[in-house]
Amino acid sequence: MSVKYQIPRGTFDILPEDSYKWQYVIAVFREVARSYNYQEIVTPIFENTELFERSVGNTSDIVQKEMYKFKDKKGREFALRPEGTAPVVRSYVENNLGMKDNSSKLYYLGPMFRYDRPQKGRFRQFYQYGVENIGSDNPFIDAEVISLGYAYLTKLGLQNFELEINSIGCVNCTGNYDKVLVEFFTPFKKELCPDCRGRINKKPKRLLDCKVPTCKRIALNAPSMLDYLDEDCKVHFARVQQNLKTLGIPFRINPKIVRGLDYYNKTAFEFIDKNLGAQNTLIGGGRYNELIKQFGGKDVPGIGFAGGFERLILSMEMEGVSFGKEQNPDIYFVVLGEKAKNIAGKLLLDLRSAGISVEFDPDKESIKAQMKAADRSKSRFALILGENELTQKKITLKDMKSGEQQLIELDKILESVSEFLL
Ligand code: HAM
Repeated sequence: MSVKYQIPRGTFDILPEDSYKWQYVIAVFREVARSYNYQEIVTPIFENTELFERSVGNTSDIVQKEMYKFKDKKGREFALRPEGTAPVVRSYVENNLGMKDNSSKLYYLGPMFRYDRPQKGRFRQFYQYGVENIGSDNPFIDAEVISLGYAYLTKLGLQNFELEINSIGCVNCTGNYDKVLVEFFTPFKKELCPDCRGRINKKPKRLLDCKVPTCKRIALNAPSMLDYLDEDCKVHFARVQQNLKTLGIPFRINPKIVRGLDYYNKTAFEFIDKNLGAQNTLIGGGRYNELIKQFGGKDVPGIGFAGGFERLILSMEMEGVSFGKEQNPDIYFVVLGEKAKNIAGKLLLDLRSAGISVEFDPDKESIKAQMKAADRSKSRFALILGENELTQKKITLKDMKSGEQQLIELDKILESVSEFLL
């Protein structure tokens, strides 16, 4: 009995008609990362569960509700990675990457997993691109990391996005601010959502970015972190802003950005596309100066960001920007008769070995069926090999757009086709 299977909820297939879009956004990301001299790092898609519990944080939604956890045959606890920063920092410490250079500039791409309610722009398996710069607390680097994100979105042709930045302070100033927040929110305790009620004494900052309308309304009047920054954080944040201005990158300060992951301090930022609806954060990132030390590494600071390709592509589709060229074959090879068929295989091999993309369908016999398929394939040229051509030791090259055709020497096929394709 045959069974029809369905894809798991919250996941999707990248179908052939869309894959060129993915290849394009990935290629441009690599190109931009390369121009900032970032190098790729690839980590496993599963890690020890504790890695995320101790960094993303036990009170975060990701750890509390969204991790895909499993035990392996030896009973070890693993989780499909919900994000890329913790694995990169784990690898940085484990492989002593800091020994090689003052600053490690790393980028990554790949699937992440979060068990959340699927909606437009939010999936259970999604694909992130991200960068991490480990080794410097210099506000120049904050602006540079932000400018990498900005350069990427701009290079893709996007215009309808905004950059919002904030400073969420450091271990020295956050304590004071947390106390002020607890005092502010406690009188409203009964009105808060259950999540916020649970977090009020553990992570009061998280109450600032709750999406529940009542909590949002209460948070509107909450005191701002920016009034509680210590001198070092204040100066740092002012320099980040100055550097962004120097780079000509427009931004807005949003004191409500706290980010949902525990490892952040100082600079936090998001690139928002207001047209995307509820899931409108294209890129989110910030500093995590304590994380490396916390993972047993040296006391070095870090900053980075990540974004989801799904929202990015959605945003590009909405703005109608180009995804580069669709990938069609250069040549559709049309073969008529047995004799031609006998030599077609070797010609196809030679053309393909020379890097020319060639389509051929041995199951189609008539010229009509093959030319129709050539049309459908959107190839630039058709090469037609029939009895006539064979007796003259030639082959017909047809321009599929203009319809023009000419005979070329069979033994010069590679040179001629390459020239036409230039
Ligand atoms: P995050 O804010 O959790 O940060 O995620 C970053 C981005 O990933 C989001 O802004 C969004 O574009 C995308 N994203 C997150 N969850 C989903 C989902 N369920 N479906 C589709 N897209 C999603 C981080 O992950 C941090 N590791 C970023 C970072 C790097 N901070 C410093 N370095």
